[in-house]
Amino acid sequence: MSSVGEALAEARRLLAEAGIPSAALEARLLLARATGTRQETLLGWPERDVPAAARAAFDALVARRARREPFAHLVGTREFWGLPFAVSPVTLVPRPDSESVVEAALEAVPDRAAPLRLLDIGTGTGCLLLALLHELPHASGLGVDIVPAALELAAANAEALGLAPRARWRLRDAWMPGDAPADIVVANLPYIPEGEIAALEPEVAFHEPASALSGGPDGLDAFRAILPLLPRILAPDGRAFLEVGAGQAGPVEAIATGIEGLRVLPRRRDLAGVERVVVLAAGQIGLGNPASPA
Ligand SMILES: C[S@@+](CC[C@H](N)C(=O)[O-])C[C@H]1O[C@@H](n2cnc3c(N)ncnc32)[C@H](O)[C@@H]1O
Repeated sequence: MSSVGEALAEARRLLAEAGIPSAALEARLLLARATGTRQETLLGWPERDVPAAARAAFDALVARRARREPFAHLVGTREFWGLPFAVSPVTLVPRPDSESVVEAALEAVPDRAAPLRLLDIGTGTGCLLLALLHELPHASGLGVDIVPAALELAAANAEALGLAPRARWRLRDAWMPGDAPADIVVANLPYIPEGEIAALEPEVAFHEPASALSGGPDGLDAFRAILPLLPRILAPDGRAFLEVGAGQAGPVEAIATGIEGLRVLPRRRDLAGVERVVVLAAGQIGLGNPASPA
């Protein structure tokens, strides 16, 4: 039997040696999970014994984290837009940066009570679509993904959030003839240049799937595939909000301006100041963006 203080000290050391910056916090959160106790209680009672079964569960979690499995994979959830999302290794763990896509889309909605039709391309956990459905009570939406297990995860998240009646899920790229046009398209497509993935932090490089990360040689393959579909997908007043990586807004807009029937609107930055969201509308090329040729 060991005490809370001893278990935490050992885990802190192992996690710090593995290069995890927030080792102390993560050790507390994992012990709280393994013991079914609040972390504040653990902090205030370091001499308390940790039962053997809880200690074994804690050690297993710490060992996995020391191998740089994402913290979210260990606990099975991640908060996005203030909502809990189940996560798994089949798709990306939702990132705070992606909340910029939700913000940009909501700002463009004049009437939140409207019965809008939403499309989320590369839905993963469903976080973008479900955050929007949470804010737009009369909207309905379709999430598409090429990974079946991601769609199962998204459907389970919709169920858990009480949003399933307004969400549909389809295994495919983007859109099929016969689908209703979308008022809002959101997409966080894979955009990391494939040669850069190995240099990312181990949690991403080794534990998140290439299907969610790799955008091909220059990171833009998925944009080249999806953007030409948007003029047919978007309703006449529809807007598309596309997450991009740092430095990709210009190249993605360049792809868009080469597509007849797409208009580039001003980009949106994330909280770190990175140009994170490219905004497109159905219409004439370049008219909405002062930086684009008129
Ligand atoms: C970067 S993740 C984004 C997941 C989620 N939307 C988010 O923001 O956290 C990209 C997702 O797109 C899916 N995907 C990759 N290529 C796709 C394609 N051509 N069409 C549709 N989905 C695709 C992946 O399986 C993955 O779930």
